[in-house]
Amino acid sequence: MRLALALISLAAASCAWAQESRVVLKDAPGKDKVMQCVACHSLDYIQMNSHFLDKAGWTASVNKMINVFGAPIPKEDVDTIATYLAENYGKPRGPYRSSRFP
Ligand code: HEC
Repeated sequence: MRLALALISLAAASCAWAQESRVVLKDAPGKDKVMQCVACHSLDYIQMNSHFLDKAGWTASVNKMINVFGAPIPKEDVDTIATYLAENYGKPRGPYRSSRFP
């Protein structure tokens, strides 16, 4: 019985946590254009991919949204969006360093 109660409260807690994770875009030039992305999915998609995409990767990703999923984003916005994403959510510049494997 105790265990069941503990599991229920754990489940409730993790639900609340999921709802809290609202992604807010960093303020930077191009943010208004990036807001076009929320028409179809949450900004979690940007954060989930942010660790391994550079500008070329983000350009390809944005073009995929347009060409494959039919996102109504003007072609001239692609560069602005990719620059914004690479600078604010791109993979870290420089050689790969890991504190776990020095
Ligand atoms: C027309 C709707 C639409 C718009 C607008 C849109 N996306 Fe997507 N996006 C999708 C769909 C559909 C998926 C894949 C479906 C899924 O897995 O849920 C997706 C998936 C993604 C992914 C996950 C990786 C992948 O390639 O599947 C990323 C990253 C992403 N979108 C970024 C963006 C960005 C950045 C923008 C704004 C420039 C954007 N999306 C705008 C429909 C859209």
